[in-house]
Amino acid sequence: MAESAPLPGTPSWDALLSQCGLPRLDARALLEHASGRRREWLLAHGDDPAAASVIEAFNALAARRRAGEPLAYLLGFREFHGLRFAVTRDVLVPRPETEGLVDAALERLTDTIRPRVLDLGTGSGALAITLALLRPDAQVVATDASSQALAVAQANARLLGAAEITWQEGDWFAALSPDEPPFDLVVSNPPYLADDDPHLHDPALRHEPRMALVSGPHGMEAIALIAAQAPARLRPGGWLMLEHGATQGAAARASLQDAGFTQTETLADLQGLARITLGRWTPPVTNPSRSQGAV
Ligand SMILES: C[S@@+](CC[C@H](N)C(=O)[O-])C[C@H]1O[C@@H](n2cnc3c(N)ncnc32)[C@H](O)[C@@H]1O
Repeated sequence: MAESAPLPGTPSWDALLSQCGLPRLDARALLEHASGRRREWLLAHGDDPAAASVIEAFNALAARRRAGEPLAYLLGFREFHGLRFAVTRDVLVPRPETEGLVDAALERLTDTIRPRVLDLGTGSGALAITLALLRPDAQVVATDASSQALAVAQANARLLGAAEITWQEGDWFAALSPDEPPFDLVVSNPPYLADDDPHLHDPALRHEPRMALVSGPHGMEAIALIAAQAPARLRPGGWLMLEHGATQGAAARASLQDAGFTQTETLADLQGLARITLGRWTPPVTNPSRSQGAV
């Protein structure tokens, strides 16, 4: 952005930061964004008068941030697992706790060559793209019911160099063709809030797409559906890994166990909150004598 010359009496860059009423880190990120200046430059010129055009742009962004708009939407990006993802209001802002899903997935794929990986409800593409970049031999398929979200994810894949991902639009597993080969891993961070969850009134969540947050009257609908349908799409020994709310671990494990998963486990995030439930698809052993009608 072209800067206009500072007018006499205009605030310094440092004064803009300290007077905007935002936490320092947020204010600094917005000032870097509005000015197009690097942090080092702003530190070195903190006492200089700020440019009028930047003051206006910065104040507008700061007002939106004070009203609760997520920083990521104002900046247009969010870091996830060390990568910069473009985000728009069409996608959930990727969360640090979801990085645990990437780590859990990588750990369980160490012995699998050319693993086939499915990311259901990819949003910005955070899970699919990170896994594709960290496991370049993987064949990654990513789906979403939102065409706008898929467009953001595909743009991120181009920017980040994850060209090989296959993108499918549709409702959970129905997005896949019936003859899609089975997967070694299905990951998903599905919506898991109930329709009337009070968190939906939080200023930050109010700006995110409702379909990324809300699953149904109980909040567990998407998790239960994915768990029930995953066995048909997993190879024997394949893994299902789902993110969920901190109070949903027991219900998520029950959904996986009801669907026939074994080795079910709930993992905690860095704050000690139960956030990821996983299980292994172990098809039931059929008893040949029974299936032949013998007694
Ligand atoms: C919580 S967001 C997760 C986004 C991304 N995976 C992440 O972790 O940042 C859930 C995603 O599921 C998608 N979604 C919601 N309902 C869906 C459905 N019935 N079928 C497929 N995707 C759906 C939403 O559009 C959204 O992108």
